[in-house]
Amino acid sequence: MNILLVGSGGREHALSWQLAQSESCAKLYAAPGSPGIEAYAECVAIGTDDLDGLIAFCTAHAIDFVVVGPEAPLVAGLADRLRARGIAVFGPGAAAAQLEGSKGFTKDLCARAGIPTAAYVRCTSADEAHAVLEGFTIPVVIKADGLAAGKGVIIAETADEAAAAIDDMFDGAFGGAGAEVVIEEFMTGEEASFFALSDGTNVMAFGSAQDHKRVGDGDTGPNTGGMGAYSPAPVLTAELEAAVMDRIIRPTVATLAAEGTPYVGVLFAGLMLTDAGPKLIEYNARFGDPECQVLMMRFNGDLAALLHAASTGALADATPPAFASDYALTVVMAANGYPATPEKGGAIQGIADAETGGVRVFHAGTARDGDQIVAAGGRVLNVTATGRTVTEAQARAYAAVDKLDFAGGFCRRDIGWREVAREAE
Ligand code: AMP
Ligand code: GLY
Repeated sequence: MNILLVGSGGREHALSWQLAQSESCAKLYAAPGSPGIEAYAECVAIGTDDLDGLIAFCTAHAIDFVVVGPEAPLVAGLADRLRARGIAVFGPGAAAAQLEGSKGFTKDLCARAGIPTAAYVRCTSADEAHAVLEGFTIPVVIKADGLAAGKGVIIAETADEAAAAIDDMFDGAFGGAGAEVVIEEFMTGEEASFFALSDGTNVMAFGSAQDHKRVGDGDTGPNTGGMGAYSPAPVLTAELEAAVMDRIIRPTVATLAAEGTPYVGVLFAGLMLTDAGPKLIEYNARFGDPECQVLMMRFNGDLAALLHAASTGALADATPPAFASDYALTVVMAANGYPATPEKGGAIQGIADAETGGVRVFHAGTARDGDQIVAAGGRVLNVTATGRTVTEAQARAYAAVDKLDFAGGFCRRDIGWREVAREAE
């Protein structure tokens, strides 16, 4: 197959590495790709928001299969337009991508399908939201309905904070994403991420991970896209995974299929493991970043063939993935100033040195400046290692981090802390 991978982040670097190794992949292109992806794919300068350009490229280069990394082109309808041209695509159409594009859509679907999630009310005006707020206990969660780059969620510890969040959202703090607001019951428990492939009808579990969303050690400071992750997440036991498949994933896929908007691609479920069992926090319509990097580290097999099976209604006959039993852990190196105003242009040296003993350094936001690799994004590198325990994987990842020379960057020093603490018990 000729394959086009859409995206340029660390997630796509990890995907390109596995796709390029797949026997079923004849030629891999990436749009726009990155200095890391260049090693595995021919990079073409087409942006992920240039739907016309992507489609024209596929037609001109006899692309058989498109793997879409980020959510924005899915929400914008890229998968629908490619399928209409007979091109297989890993990723949902715009209607099913609403699982990520609209929090209210997902909550209503949970209500229709009886999927466990936090109690909620959708509001379309500030007045309505202030009135609805009276019915909730504090803390309470206020969410902008639309895509807000992971920033549209406020956990309000006081009624005043909740009221201010409502006003901010309706005043346009998150642009169009806040034209509608969802008010939610606050859930307590440990969070975990679970992934499942869907071909529209059939589903297949695709592993678990735990992310670290806050910028600082000890889960302090502002939220980010994710500062590090590990896989699997032992807190999601086989029994809990089975419950998630039965009570959350299968009813979601069945409901969307019955309503004529089948879900094709990967369902990324953000879960809260509550005393009353796993509950859905939110869905994403794509692989997590950096969760994908740790899943790809453990993946064995032909990724292109498996994702293609999910994209062509053939998942029932596909071989489930054989993930290594070892843990994988990734540390995100971010540019100084992230997440507010990351510095661009910081020089990076020592990647080859760091990549010894099975460590992989995925490029999340880099560019070339002559012979030099420099920072070109908020999250810059994902330093990824494996080990028989999370503690071992963590030690290897930080040993590799210490071989890098990246004065303009920083990382958290405690990725995996929950599991490292449990392993020490
Ligand atoms: P989201 O962007 O929906 O993943 O939300 C970001 C983060 O906010 C989640 O990872 C949770 O830590 C937290 N969160 C979202 N919704 C809730 C909720 N209903 N109860 C508790 N925490 C929540
Ligand atoms: N790391 C969280 C996400 O990809 O949404």
